[in-house]
Amino acid sequence: MHYLITGGAGFIGTHLAKRLLHEYNRVTILDNMSTGRADRLLDTKANVIVGTVTDGELVSSLVADCDYIIHLACVVGVRLAMNRGCETLRLSYVGTENVLEAATKYNKDIFVASSSAIYGKINSFPVSEEEDSLLGASTKISWLYSVGKLMEEHLALAYFRERGTRIKIARFFNVIGPYQTGSYGMVVPTFISKALNGEPLPVYEHGLQTRTFCYIEDMLDGLEVVLQKGEVGGIYNIGGRNEISILELAKKIIALTDSSSPIHFVPFSSAFGPNFEETSRRIPDITRLQELGYRPRYSLDESLSEIISHYRRSDHCVD
Ligand SMILES: NC(=O)c1ccc[n+]([C@@H]2O[C@H](COP(=O)([O-])OP(=O)(O)OC[C@H]3O[C@@H](n4cnc5c(N)ncnc54)[C@H](O)[C@@H]3O)[C@@H](O)[C@H]2O)c1
Repeated sequence: MHYLITGGAGFIGTHLAKRLLHEYNRVTILDNMSTGRADRLLDTKANVIVGTVTDGELVSSLVADCDYIIHLACVVGVRLAMNRGCETLRLSYVGTENVLEAATKYNKDIFVASSSAIYGKINSFPVSEEEDSLLGASTKISWLYSVGKLMEEHLALAYFRERGTRIKIARFFNVIGPYQTGSYGMVVPTFISKALNGEPLPVYEHGLQTRTFCYIEDMLDGLEVVLQKGEVGGIYNIGGRNEISILELAKKIIALTDSSSPIHFVPFSSAFGPNFEETSRRIPDITRLQELGYRPRYSLDESLSEIISHYRRSDHCVD
């Protein structure tokens, strides 16, 4: 099978490409390298094209030549999307439209990556796929990333309903693993890097907000289940089971790295400005995925230990 992965030089794309190649597939990657890195793919047989998904002709020519499109390209993360709002929304609309249009024209299957961010500040735990999206006011810039991902979902579903495009969607919840960078505010690589370097770990507010984390190998298992057994037009949550507060996460990482780093409490307003808002809790209901046979394999401690040893092997280099 020949896969085209947009955004394939990023954190998830690199792991996915390696797994697909290991399973004897062909992989072509389209990435503009804005946050992606081609060097991690040098030892693979992936065909890496440097370009943007907003280039409709390029996308069309690559889609014509592949069997399955995995659309990951995105400005990822709340902080980056806040600083690059125009690009984020354009990429979500134009980039996603380009891959959907080409998939429809050449009759190809397509997977679109979405995010738990689309649930916003919904007060329902665990959150299932049919829950409402509860986003804050547009003046609260932190919701821009959520709007972009929601737009991608709506566009994909509209192509499915109106044009018969074979789409599948999964919403990822805080995926963690080697190669993830802390440079754009992702909590786990930030904490691990600070702990390994003996620097203070920045915990926002009192750190009582909770999250679940999903190890990259579990996430890829979930994605494989969606691609192989998921319903066309279907949406699936993919996420971890262990809920933990950010303060507890910081303490756990300090203990696992045997670090003497202190914890530094930072108000949201000094990190993100006055118009920032975020949800205090986010837990996925993964029943739909489990009904297809998905079983997560990694505990949070195992996941963190794997990542810490990866960073230690890379000599504390976060990236
Ligand atoms: N990592 C997570 O926890 C998480 C959670 C929810 C959803 N997701 C989704 O998974 C996907 C992959 O995320 P990731 O964590 O690997 O992020 P990432 O930033 O590592 O990867 C995104 C990739 O897209 C590329 N890209 C950006 N603009 C592009 C453009 N115009 N054309 C082509 N490529 C472009 C970047 O260079 C990068 O390689 C994204 O769609 C993201 O929204 C990730």
